[in-house]
Amino acid sequence: DWVMGNYVDEAVARIREQVGDEEVLLGLSGGVDSSVAAALIHRAIGDRLTCVFVDHGLLRLHEGDMVMEMIAGKLHARVIRVDASALFLGKLAGVSEPEHKRKIIGGLFVDVFKAEAEKLKAAGGGHQGITFLAQGTIYPDVIESGGAKSKKAVTIKSHHNVGGLPEQLGLKLLEPLRDLFKDEVRELGLALGLPREMVYRHPFPGPGLGVRILGEVKKEYADLLRRADAVFIEELRNTVDPATGKNWYELTSQAFTVFLPVKSVGVMGDGRTYDYVVALRAVQTTDFMTADWAELPYALLKRVSGRIINEVRGINRVTYDVSSKPPATIEWE
Ligand code: XMP
Repeated sequence: DWVMGNYVDEAVARIREQVGDEEVLLGLSGGVDSSVAAALIHRAIGDRLTCVFVDHGLLRLHEGDMVMEMIAGKLHARVIRVDASALFLGKLAGVSEPEHKRKIIGGLFVDVFKAEAEKLKAAGGGHQGITFLAQGTIYPDVIESGGAKSKKAVTIKSHHNVGGLPEQLGLKLLEPLRDLFKDEVRELGLALGLPREMVYRHPFPGPGLGVRILGEVKKEYADLLRRADAVFIEELRNTVDPATGKNWYELTSQAFTVFLPVKSVGVMGDGRTYDYVVALRAVQTTDFMTADWAELPYALLKRVSGRIINEVRGINRVTYDVSSKPPATIEWE
């Protein structure tokens, strides 16, 4: 709409003024905020923006390719994809405690990004090179990190944030989304030409499938989980609720599959199977602080379970998580 159109023009003008003729580096996660920030900054300064996309190997099915297709293919922005999956899986081997896994993933992420940033800075060659680090910080992040509310007595889960990175890299900070709420970021993304399906995606945790594979993370588990989860999401998107005319992906706030590293017995044809279990999780919430498990139609659950067990060899049992938050959290780790 024209209101967002005006906003785009103003935001572009502000970025041009702040950046001048310098260059900007941005860490792309595949999430909504960093993608919208990339699109906006690219609109303002074109090829003086370089995005670095650290692929930790714990993304969903085809997610890395979709990020590249959107940012490089569609927007024609400069993106460097760093395939660090072997590094991440290597460091995660033998580690099963959730907070320990989070620390490893968050720490490696910063290390890989920093190494890439240093390379780019060094490659400046006669030219001034990169002087800004852009981040997709949005208004709720600003309040959370500055306000008294952040002084929680107990840390349930440590979300890794990249505070301090600009200083460590000797770069100035550029945060073009810091006045916006999530719904405004989404509208801005649409106005900048990002696909609706991407802009309205459910939230995805920074450590990715690393916290959706219970206990030790293994490539075999991640591959099985990716395929099962893709079936679940596809069926949610394809099943429309007649009462609202919306599909079940839109009717839930977050939905995903969890890999349980336990085996149970099943029967297939005239053989016995002894394979892994997955849990489907779907919740409805407005603030993610409390959440209800979603009352998905039985017919939908039945289709998902049938397809996962038939299509993903290695999984022979599907369960549905009927726990609300609190006392359960949304993610299982
Ligand atoms: P929980 O599981 O605590 O999750 O009920 C609340 C919301 O936060 C997301 N979440 C994370 N996001 N890094 C993130 O960036 C994390 O380590 C992390 N853990 C949970 C979760 O997906 C949900 O949207």
